[in-house]
Amino acid sequence: MARYEIRGGIPLNGTVSISGAKNAAVAILPAALLVSGKCRIENVPDISDVRILLDILEGMGARIEIPEQHVVEIDCSEVHCSEPDGYLVRQMRASYYLMGALLGRFGKAHVALPGGCNFASRPIDQHIKGFLGLGADVDETEDYVALKPSEEGLRGGRISLDIASVGATVNIMLAATLLPGQTVIENAAKEPHIVDLANFLNTMGARITGAGTDTVKIRGVNALHSGTYTIIPDQIEAGTYLAAVTAVGGNVLVTNVIPKHLECITTKLQEMGAKVIPYDDAVRVMRSGKLRRTTVKTQPYPGFPTDMQAQVCVCMSLAEGVSRLTESVYETRFFGYCTELESMGANIHITGKTATVQGVEKLYGSSVCAHDLRAGAALVIAGLAASGTTSVDQIHFVERGYEDLIGKLTALGADIKRVED
Ligand code: EPU
Repeated sequence: MARYEIRGGIPLNGTVSISGAKNAAVAILPAALLVSGKCRIENVPDISDVRILLDILEGMGARIEIPEQHVVEIDCSEVHCSEPDGYLVRQMRASYYLMGALLGRFGKAHVALPGGCNFASRPIDQHIKGFLGLGADVDETEDYVALKPSEEGLRGGRISLDIASVGATVNIMLAATLLPGQTVIENAAKEPHIVDLANFLNTMGARITGAGTDTVKIRGVNALHSGTYTIIPDQIEAGTYLAAVTAVGGNVLVTNVIPKHLECITTKLQEMGAKVIPYDDAVRVMRSGKLRRTTVKTQPYPGFPTDMQAQVCVCMSLAEGVSRLTESVYETRFFGYCTELESMGANIHITGKTATVQGVEKLYGSSVCAHDLRAGAALVIAGLAASGTTSVDQIHFVERGYEDLIGKLTALGADIKRVED
C-alpha cells in the first residue's frame, strides 16, 4: 500500500498551477456520449477518477485519444452499449452520471450503483425523481438502476428538486438535452461545474439557459455536434493550496484559477489572518502572523464549500481561540478526519452538525489514515504544518482528485514523498 511521508514545519513558497476541475470533468466526459462526433476536451485533470471514467467509456466502445497531456479527444459515435462495466462503475462516485447520459443517448440505461467516497449516506432519490419527471420507468435495486421509457415515453418536464443536489441537476441536464420539449429544473444546484457542463453542452449545440441560477431550462435539440471545450480550473484544488499556505505559512501564487469561485473560501482564510491578493486568473496567498479563530458554515455554492470543510478545520486547529465549524451538506463528514487530526494533537469536539475547535500551539507528526478525498487532503496539510514526520495512509482516496500533489507541493518547498510499502 502506498502512503505519503511528510516532514512538516517548512513554509510553502513559489507558484502552483491548478488543474482542471474534477467535478466538471466527471460530468463533461459522460456528456460526450450525447455528442455525434468527436469532442476535444482540454484542461482535463490527470487524476484516477478521470482515468476510470475513460476506461468505462472506452469499454463501451468510445474512441479515446490523448494527443497531449490534459487533452482528451473522445468520439462516442460507435458506442452501442447502455450497460457500463459494473466493476469500474463501483470504483467511483460520479459514475452515476452515466445514468443521465445513457438515458439521454439511448433512452435506456443499466448502471451499477456507484462507489467512491462514502463519508455520508449519499442517496440518489433526487436523481430518480428527475428521471421519472422526464418520463422514465425506473427499476432501482441495491445493486443497480435500470431506466427505460415509460408508456407515455420520454420528454421534457418540470422538475422541482427537494434539495439543490449537484448530482441530480447534472443527471437531469444530461438526460434532457436530447429529449423533445422543454425541461425546467427548479431549485437547481448552482456550483461552478453546473455552469461548466451547460457551457460544454451549449458549445456542442445544446440549448440550456439559467445554469448558475436556481432555475435551469433545457430546450431539447435533435443532436449535438463536434467541438472543442476547455474545462474550468478546480475550485477545491485551488482552495486546498490556499488553506495549506494559511495553515503552514509562506507566500504562494496560485495560478490558473477563477478568483470569483474562490471568494467564498478566501474570505474565511483572510478572517483567519491570511493575506490574499486576487489577480485576473491567479491568487496570491501569504501568511506569516498568528492565525485567528473564525466561524464557518458549509453551504451550497456560493457558500463555503463542504469540500473545504476538512482543510479549514486544520487551519482552525492551529488558530488562537475557539473556532466553530458547522456542516450543513453532509452531517457525518467530520468523522472522516477529526479523530486522525486529534491523534496529531488537535482539540476538536463534535456535537451534531458542529465541530468546536480549540486551537492548539502545535500539531505533531503521527501515522494517520485518509478515509476520503478531502479528509486525505486535510491530513496532508496537517502533516505539512506539524512538527516531526507524518505518514498518511490510504492515499488512493487523495489521488482520485488531486493531480500530482507530490510534484506540486515539492515545488513549493515541502518535504513530502510517496512511499510504497
Ligand atoms: N442528496 C439527497 N438525495 C439525492 C442527492 C443528494 O438527499 O438524490 C443530499 C446529499 O445526501 C447531500 C446533499 O443532498 O446531503 C447534497 O448532495 P449533492 O447531490 O449536491 O452532492 P453530490 O452530487 O453527490 C457533489 C460533489 C461532491 C460535493 C457535493 C456537494 C461531484 C462528483 N461530487 O456530490 O464532491 O461534496 O456535490 O457540493 O460533483 C468531492 O469532490 O470530494 C466531493 C465529494
